[in-house]
Amino acid sequence: MSETTTPLEGPDLASGVAQIADGAMLLGHARGEPVLLARRGDELFAIGAICTHYGAPLADGLLVDDTVRCPWHHACFSLRTGAALRPPALAPVSCWRVEQSGDKVYVREKLVQQAPAPLPPVAGIPQSVTIVGGGAAAHAAAETLRREGYSGRITMLSADSSRPCDRPNLSKGFLAGTAPAESNPLRPATFYQEHAIDLRLNAPVAALDVRARQLHLVDGTRHAYDALLLATGAEPVRLDIPGATLRHVHYLRTLADSRALVAKALTSQRAVVIGASFIGLEVAASLRARNVEVHVVAPETVPMERILGPHVGNFIRTLHDRHGVTFHLGTTAASIDKQGVRLNSGEDLRADLVVIGIGVRPLVELAQQAGLVIDRGVVVNEYLETSVPGIFAAGDIARWPDRLSGECIRVEHWVVAERQGETAARNMLGRRERFEAVPFFWTEQYDFGIAYIGHAQRWDRVDMDGQLDLDVRDCTIVYRQGGRKLAVAVVHRDLEGLCAEVEFEKAIAAMA
Ligand SMILES: Cc1cc2nc3c(=O)[nH]c(=O)nc-3n(C[C@H](O)[C@H](O)[C@H](O)COP(=O)(O)OP(=O)(O)OC[C@H]3O[C@@H](n4cnc5c(N)ncnc54)[C@H](O)[C@@H]3O)c2cc1C
Ligand code: FES
Repeated sequence: MSETTTPLEGPDLASGVAQIADGAMLLGHARGEPVLLARRGDELFAIGAICTHYGAPLADGLLVDDTVRCPWHHACFSLRTGAALRPPALAPVSCWRVEQSGDKVYVREKLVQQAPAPLPPVAGIPQSVTIVGGGAAAHAAAETLRREGYSGRITMLSADSSRPCDRPNLSKGFLAGTAPAESNPLRPATFYQEHAIDLRLNAPVAALDVRARQLHLVDGTRHAYDALLLATGAEPVRLDIPGATLRHVHYLRTLADSRALVAKALTSQRAVVIGASFIGLEVAASLRARNVEVHVVAPETVPMERILGPHVGNFIRTLHDRHGVTFHLGTTAASIDKQGVRLNSGEDLRADLVVIGIGVRPLVELAQQAGLVIDRGVVVNEYLETSVPGIFAAGDIARWPDRLSGECIRVEHWVVAERQGETAARNMLGRRERFEAVPFFWTEQYDFGIAYIGHAQRWDRVDMDGQLDLDVRDCTIVYRQGGRKLAVAVVHRDLEGLCAEVEFEKAIAAMA
């Protein structure tokens, strides 16, 4: 996830190139590093050309004002400073000085990135911030507080046994064995020390006392808070059938879960995956990469049809068929024993590994027990503040008023959780910034990836432009309700995905 091993392409920008057009980007290099040259009006910018998330080429992205958006998962970088303005990228890209001389443009020396100016201790800035959680939203909030110059105490109380990790990768490259294990933590341990973030692992919180402004930890200790962010995420729904707690039955949420699954996969021949959700199917693909025979059991007749529509659902099924996965659809698991899984259809499937992926439930107990308003999630306003002033919630637990759909929604997307963590952090510093990011998620199965922009809880029409089958994967799918465009999914059309995001943002801005 760094700008290192990419072969250099394009011209040597340090030696000078001809002027580029307004709104254009040019991929080149300078002193051995890939550099993106971009022009906006009369201004020229040069920043690192490789996204710090998973290494996408930013030259394939989209210029929006003085930023560039990444084609793969829509991170956003400042052309002026290289700062990562929107997750999922956390680290900045480098930035170079650009000089025009005659009719040529030269990329000169690299600019030193400025440390944020410390925030003055004015009224309204909390003395300390406590974050319950150690996942996407929690980490993004802590990092944002420091980026904004907050110098008060930051404590993260996480039930996890490991540092904040790249959760989406746990069912993909990490499980398949294609991503290096060391790439998984979002930040190294030294990051938390250097930024004075007191990250406490194995520190589950048992109760929240709003009147005393205290958290009660499971280990019996108490922790007083000033400003508080709840980012407890979600946990897998447990399957309540005989045998579901046997040792070879796995769920997947944490790094520890994924490690246990990898260890078991190494000695397994046959797996049954219960559930054809994103996680279930990503797990199926990753286990196939390890040559484990995979059977998928699910009640629906077309996987993912409810979210992505019948065309994509049927394609995904065909894709898995092609990779040797056997589906048992329209049925459910009745019981599990050491030999395998018995289905309600009466069929017995042999298995030495069972993975259950039947959805998640938001962990709202702390908020609920403390009397915060709950409605299938923790209810927050447009500033991500809960019904108790000064207590914010972000990520999988938060149900917020989404302008685009006009509904209060709760989503389980990585990028949304990170962006909410950022907004909540700024609002804890008194910014009053509305959360208006357009929801975004992606899934990857084998060599197939799809990105989804917007949110269509329900849709009555799906239009596909392009082709999606085993030979050609190149399409845009639009989901509408009552004629209104609510979401867009793209396959191999990254720019269209970015343009859809910008179009939704404009629609939201017009509602202001
Ligand atoms: C395997 C997997 C793959 C995924 N792939 C994708 C993907 O491809 N694309 C996508 O958009 N999304 C994906 N997701 C979903 C995405 O990871 C979540 O939406 C995101 O992690 C939510 O962030 P969060 O901060 O709300 O919760 P989490 O990241 O789950 O973090 C919650 C944190 O709270 C802690 N916690 C919970 N209760 C307590 C307590 N009482 N006290 C202290 N700490 C507590 C937990 O230990 C954890 O650290 C995936 C999820 C999984 C599990
Ligand atoms: S590679 Fe750029 S956002 Fe993921």
